[in-house]
Amino acid sequence: MREQHLILIGPMGAGKSTIGRQLADHYRRPLVDIDSAIEQRCGADISWIFDVEGESGFRRRETAMLEEVLASPEPLVIATGGGIVTQQANRQLLASGGLVIYLMASAGQILRRTRNDTSRPLLQVDNRAEVVERILAEREPLYSELADLSFHSGDGSAGRSAARLIEQIERLR
Ligand code: S3P
Repeated sequence: MREQHLILIGPMGAGKSTIGRQLADHYRRPLVDIDSAIEQRCGADISWIFDVEGESGFRRRETAMLEEVLASPEPLVIATGGGIVTQQANRQLLASGGLVIYLMASAGQILRRTRNDTSRPLLQVDNRAEVVERILAEREPLYSELADLSFHSGDGSAGRSAARLIEQIERLR
């Protein structure tokens, strides 16, 4: 495995944090979740940041945190938030930041996995299906363009998905 960051991108509910944990254990690297790092830094959760600073305030924090995390000399596994690709500055940072892995998920999978979610501000709407479909349509080309590897985790166990993904990462060596 080349000593570069492994960066997970993809929509909400694609399993970036779960698969990220498995990759971090396998490669014995720290896992850094950008959303959690922002929450820790601010002492406030993502919903609060969206409420008080708006999405634009959150995006500014996200770019600053991405830049900071990518600067780590230690190779990391990095789980990003689903909207990170919406900002040109982030796309530039990601493109040169490490091996970018796109975790794909269908609208149906996202809706099922986020059914009881109350922590993602963009999903606290009446018509969640419409929002998920719109977000996917906007972002899918951006995820695909940035990805060194695109991976469909499917509905199996996280452990089995991660094992398949690790095989694909190893093939890129
Ligand atoms: C967002 C995704 C979330 C979080 C924020 C905005 C998005 O991360 O960054 O709620 O714009 O898709 P997850 O993809 O980890 O849910």
